[in-house]
Amino acid sequence: MGRDVIVACDFENRRDTFDFLDRFEGVKPFVKIGMELFYAEGPSAVEEIKKRGHRIFLDLKLHDIPNTVKRTMAVLSRLGVDMCNVHASGTVRMMEAALDGLSRVQAGDLRPVVIAVTQLTSTDGYALKNDLLISRPMEEVVLHYAERAKQAGLDGVVCSALEAEAVHGRCGSDFVTVTPGVRFHDGDRGDQKRVVTPAEAKKRGSDYIVVGRPITRAADPVAEYLRFVREFKD
Ligand code: C5P
Repeated sequence: MGRDVIVACDFENRRDTFDFLDRFEGVKPFVKIGMELFYAEGPSAVEEIKKRGHRIFLDLKLHDIPNTVKRTMAVLSRLGVDMCNVHASGTVRMMEAALDGLSRVQAGDLRPVVIAVTQLTSTDGYALKNDLLISRPMEEVVLHYAERAKQAGLDGVVCSALEAEAVHGRCGSDFVTVTPGVRFHDGDRGDQKRVVTPAEAKKRGSDYIVVGRPITRAADPVAEYLRFVREFKD
């Protein structure tokens, strides 16, 4: 797995997505397709983006009973995406079921990288304690979920870059860390709480940063994307 910037294409329809991707001439960013676009346009949008030569992280964050997740993963695996994910809070059994669903359709190296969401980067310590009723510190919760994901056989986790180093320390350097909540100092944080700059994410050992609004809402998205690439990758 090489270090890379994944652009979160959080658009509500196909037209806005392709208008955005059309601006990238000669560069094919790794893109993340989330629930918004997938629920609006369905699998054909994913297939079209793939045909254009982008690598795709299908970010549907599955969280359901193991059998439902297994069967859903089997369906999703037919799309040939490069990365997909589930919530670690769905339990080890659910994560194992996710992999099982994939293995029924694709074998060996062909299966997508499967990662688990530990805690959303929009969740802060207050929400962890008061909304989720989890009294342990954030880092302990994230590391515990990461270990459980590894135990289930997953390839990595989605976490804050603030936790990437500790996740690698606990789960190994080849356990992939995919980290949203990345902003330049001059950028708008939006609803992200635990944010870092691309340079900090690199220093802390993130394998992939996921960047949405700072790129999709920029006056010049390509220039902004390249700015993130320069600071994170080069
Ligand atoms: O616009 P922004 O850069 O905040 O987008 C971050 C993307 O990463 C969004 O698509 C969001 O759904 C996703 N994400 C996140 N935190 C997680 C998992 C995914 O922000 N823990």
